[in-house]
Amino acid sequence: MKVLVIGSGGREHALCWALSASSLVDALYAAPGNAGMAEEAQCVDIAADDIGTIGAFAKSNAIDLVVIGPEGPLVAGLADLLEADGIKAFGPSAAAARLEGSKGFTKDICARYGIPTAAYGRFTETGPALDYLQRVGAPIVVKADGLAAGKGVIMAETVAEAEAAVADILDGDRFGAAGSEVLIEEWLGGEEASFFALVDGVTALPLASAQDHKRAGEADTGPNTGGMGAYSPAPVVTEALAGRIMDRVIEPTVRAMNEAGCPYRGVLYAGVMIADGVPKLLEYNVRFGDPECQVLVLRLRSDLLPALLAAREGGLKHFDLRWRDEAALSVVMAAKGYPGAYGKGSEIRGIEAADAIDGVKVFHAGTKAEDGKLLAVGGRVLNVTALAPTIAEAQAKAYRAVDAIDWPGGFCRRDIGFRAVG
Ligand code: AMP
Ligand code: GLY
Repeated sequence: MKVLVIGSGGREHALCWALSASSLVDALYAAPGNAGMAEEAQCVDIAADDIGTIGAFAKSNAIDLVVIGPEGPLVAGLADLLEADGIKAFGPSAAAARLEGSKGFTKDICARYGIPTAAYGRFTETGPALDYLQRVGAPIVVKADGLAAGKGVIMAETVAEAEAAVADILDGDRFGAAGSEVLIEEWLGGEEASFFALVDGVTALPLASAQDHKRAGEADTGPNTGGMGAYSPAPVVTEALAGRIMDRVIEPTVRAMNEAGCPYRGVLYAGVMIADGVPKLLEYNVRFGDPECQVLVLRLRSDLLPALLAAREGGLKHFDLRWRDEAALSVVMAAKGYPGAYGKGSEIRGIEAADAIDGVKVFHAGTKAEDGKLLAVGGRVLNVTALAPTIAEAQAKAYRAVDAIDWPGGFCRRDIGFRAVG
């Protein structure tokens, strides 16, 4: 098969790396890709959001399968566009991608199907939103309804902060169309985990458990980021809890999407908050997590390609995935300043030395090759990922690999996995 992967992050590098190992893949392309992905795939200079040009490229190059990494092109309808042209796409239709594209859509499904989640209100006008805030008080969480590149969630400690967030979302122009509606919801306590399932429209197949670290600072403090590291398995997700998440969250959602006439196909990523063994849905994403995908592919023993095809084709009922018993842990190296303003163009050395450590794979997230040098061109730049018998050993190995990398312009958290290592 000729396979095209859409995206340029560490998640997409991990997908390329796994797909390049498949005996079913004859040719692998990435759009736009990055310097690391160029080792496994032929990079094509088309932006991930330029869905028209992606469609034309896929058609003229007789691509058999397009694996769509990020949410942007999914919500914009790339899977629909490709399928209409007879090209297989891994990833949900635009209608099904509303599970990530509209937080209000998801919350209403939760309400209708009894899926446990934070209590909430949806508002398009400031007046009623402020009345609701007065009634429920703080702390409280305020969210822009649409896609906001991770910046649309405000954890408000006080009512004043929450009021400012509501005004910013509904009346300001910072969020564009994503801010035409605001969601106000109960602040949930507990431990967060990322739960993934492949879904073929009817059947959901859970993947190995994973957890990420969203805050920029050690001990999970500081500003929210796309994710500073991840590990799998997640000890907090016991087998019993995974069963509960499947029964109470994933399965009813799959049913709801069918009944709404937009069956979900692709990978469904539930962000869940766990307190006293009870999972509550925080949000859905319609894609793999980044950097959770990086640890999952390292643990995946089965060929990834047939699994993605089975999700597209309704073949998950009798499908089985095999995982390594070992644990995987990934440390994100980011440009100094991330998630705020950061510099671009600093040189990175020593990736080969890190990659040479047995069980280590360095995935690239924001890199570019220029004049024989490797340059950092993004916020999150490298995902140093290690496989070892235990999470503690994977952690030690990943940091050994981090220390082999010479990049004065970068930083990382030194405590990835601390909740699992103790
Ligand atoms: P979201 O994009 O909705 O997942 O929100 C981003 C992050 O904000 C989540 O990963 C949580 O860490 C946090 N968060 C979102 N909603 C809530 C909530 N209702 N209670 C507590 N934390 C939340
Ligand atoms: N790691 C969080 C995300 O991919 O949204």
